[in-house]
Amino acid sequence: MQILDGKHTAAQIKAEIAKEVEQMVADGQRPPHLAAILVGNDGGSETYVASKVKACEACGFKSSLLRFPDTISEKELLSEIKKLNDNPDIDGFIIQLPLPAHIDEQKITEAIDFRKDVDGFHPVNVGRLSIGLPGFRSATPAGIIDLLDRYHIPTKGKHAVVLGRSNIVGKPIANLLMQKAEPGNCTVTVCHSATPNIKEICLQADIIIAALGHPGFLKADMVKPGATVIDVGTTRVPDTSRKSGFRLCGDVDFDNVAPKCEFITPVPGGVGPMTICSLMKNTLLARKGIF
Ligand code: GUN
Repeated sequence: MQILDGKHTAAQIKAEIAKEVEQMVADGQRPPHLAAILVGNDGGSETYVASKVKACEACGFKSSLLRFPDTISEKELLSEIKKLNDNPDIDGFIIQLPLPAHIDEQKITEAIDFRKDVDGFHPVNVGRLSIGLPGFRSATPAGIIDLLDRYHIPTKGKHAVVLGRSNIVGKPIANLLMQKAEPGNCTVTVCHSATPNIKEICLQADIIIAALGHPGFLKADMVKPGATVIDVGTTRVPDTSRKSGFRLCGDVDFDNVAPKCEFITPVPGGVGPMTICSLMKNTLLARKGIF
């Protein structure tokens, strides 16, 4: 069994990006500039955005954090998005989700200029990804593909089972794994809350991507010996022994599943750091221009 070390791999990729940015600046060009909009004071969102700002520093990017109270109206938020769309100094920006209930997330996502949509959530980028065209790939799925690639995990002809059908992980990772590409070329099955025989399907999998948000869902008796297991779960579970008062819990029963696997990602330190790294890669691409 080998642990897929997302933290180490992400640090390597960020160092590669930093080197490229250093050269850019030495050549007289400006560095990439990422902006992030944070609405309200959600603890998880605060942590994620702080990690993104820190990653920008590590890569030599400029970053701007725009904070708004959770009372901001949808109209006001749309006008802030327009300003970022029109600002030539900003290469890409993200709006940290979730947003307050009175704001329509889909409307906000579609208001972002797809050429600056470094989260890869705009329907244009989702569509381009699904038909194999260049575009901004959603960060978590792109990070998983990079992790498989960096560890030279064979994917061609393999059966990949995706647990979960969210727009930001399940659907795009299923799409990327089925593309005629390396990594890719998988036969993909997507399981979700209405799938009756998940255990039987998982037992046929060479690669399992667990992205349901259900802590410890994938048990050892659902995994074929020698499988590769990627855990996307990051549920906050109360834990009084931690200073923060919680710990991150993956969708995989790690202690019992890991001994059966050829490769497995830990939580934390697996997919999470790779996700932020993909955002940095997308921002660099935005700076260089991909459309
Ligand atoms: N909330 C949870 N994950 C993400 C993400 O990848 N991007 C944004 N913008 N919000 C999120």
